Amino acid sequence: MLCLVNLICWTIFLVLGASHGVTEENNQDVCQEEQYIDELSVKSSTGQEVLLEMKDINETFICLLYPTYLLNCSWSFLTEEEDTQLSVTISICDGNTPVQSPSYSSVERVGSRTLTQQQLNNLQVVLQFNMSWPDKWKVYSYKYDSQMLEFLPPPTNVSATVTNGSLVVKWALPHDQSHPMCFEYQLDLGDQEAPRHLGAQLSYTELSADPTHTYRVRIRMRRNSGCIGSAQWGEWSPTVTVEQPCRLNILLMVTLSFGIPMILLAVLLLMRQQRLSTLLFPPIPRPPSKYMHFLEKSDTFSFPYPALPSKTEEEITKVEVAEENPETFKSMNMTRTHSNL
Ligand SMILES: *[C@@H]1O[C@H](CO)[C@@H](O)[C@H](O)[C@H]1NC(C)=O
Ligand SMILES: *[C@@H]1O[C@H](CO)[C@@H](O)[C@H](O)[C@H]1NC(C)=O
Ligand SMILES: *[C@@H]1O[C@H](CO)[C@@H](O)[C@H](O)[C@H]1NC(C)=O
Ligand SMILES: *[C@@H]1O[C@H](CO)[C@@H](O)[C@H](O)[C@H]1NC(C)=O
Ligand SMILES: *[C@@H]1O[C@H](CO)[C@@H](O)[C@H](O)[C@H]1NC(C)=O
Repeated sequence: MLCLVNLICWTIFLVLGASHGVTEENNQDVCQEEQYIDELSVKSSTGQEVLLEMKDINETFICLLYPTYLLNCSWSFLTEEEDTQLSVTISICDGNTPVQSPSYSSVERVGSRTLTQQQLNNLQVVLQFNMSWPDKWKVYSYKYDSQMLEFLPPPTNVSATVTNGSLVVKWALPHDQSHPMCFEYQLDLGDQEAPRHLGAQLSYTELSADPTHTYRVRIRMRRNSGCIGSAQWGEWSPTVTVEQPCRLNILLMVTLSFGIPMILLAVLLLMRQQRLSTLLFPPIPRPPSKYMHFLEKSDTFSFPYPALPSKTEEEITKVEVAEENPETFKSMNMTRTHSNL
């Protein structure tokens, strides 16, 4: 039974594989070949073999192992001539033991292939590119260990708060990383500026944060050049949104919606005080009879607008204006009091 299932699976694998130009070679040698990590071997049909560094070539490629054990190898060979036949072999080794080694023939010049990988004690990946032309070929071979492959998870416990007008962002290392000095960070505040590049630190303070801005904070990390491993940026953390205290926004709105009209009004009043004050002063409602006596006796200045004491600065401004021109104001109010009577 198990055998039958195996057979079916194998057949499906072969059929699927063949239709995508994949061949599974039992490439024993690759895992056993002496090759250092982070060293590029270039073999060519002339029998020559040279060792180069990645920065010595125009082509780029990288393999990354995601926390889900998905291995993604991608490449860009745009600098090669159009007629170059490119094939890729991804050999997965557990130490010297080959695990799987799919080959992809006639791949695109910019592309990627992914493999699902189980957890291995001593994972190594050998990536080979064969560029061939009718009369010659050239093979790049590059070996990764698990540290070089690791696609870093995002920093954890990311928090962002605005205190005393400063934005303070804090984060922690993922629990499986134990060397804080090995990492550097890129912090994106969701503002107009480019992400901040930060060293081996676990907090950041943006002084004088913009109180009108809603910050959307995310951060990612990579190994710095002082430590062994891939220098590839890891995954972005989930975005933390910093809502600014409403108080500030209300204050701003109040300032804008009242302040500017108030200033304009004051200017207008100063310019055309007499006519405007006549127009703008609302008629005084008839006071209840128990205040009549008081009204008649009192000074108009100490009790100018009994019905509207709580309604704000508009009246206050007028009073100030009126005080500059007490004669007009007084006579007018006197008239009104009389007409009310
Ligand atoms: C890389 O490209 C430049 C410009 O196209 C070329 O001069 C140089 O020889 C190339 N280097 C290699 C190693 O192919
Ligand atoms: C693999 O990496 C390449 C290049 O970064 C990307 O375009 C592609 O989407 C990745 N594939 C998967 C399955 O993540
Ligand atoms: C590279 O590809 C060419 C053409 O397919 C082949 O003849 C050659 O043997 C390959 N080289 C290696 C090292 O596999
Ligand atoms: C991160 O948060 C979790 C739960 O809130 C807590 O248990 C853990 O100690 C925190 N880690 C660090 C490094 O602060
Ligand atoms: C805010 O700043 C004042 C003075 O600058 C300081 O006394 C106070 O402790 C600060 N508050 C916080 C929460 O940092």
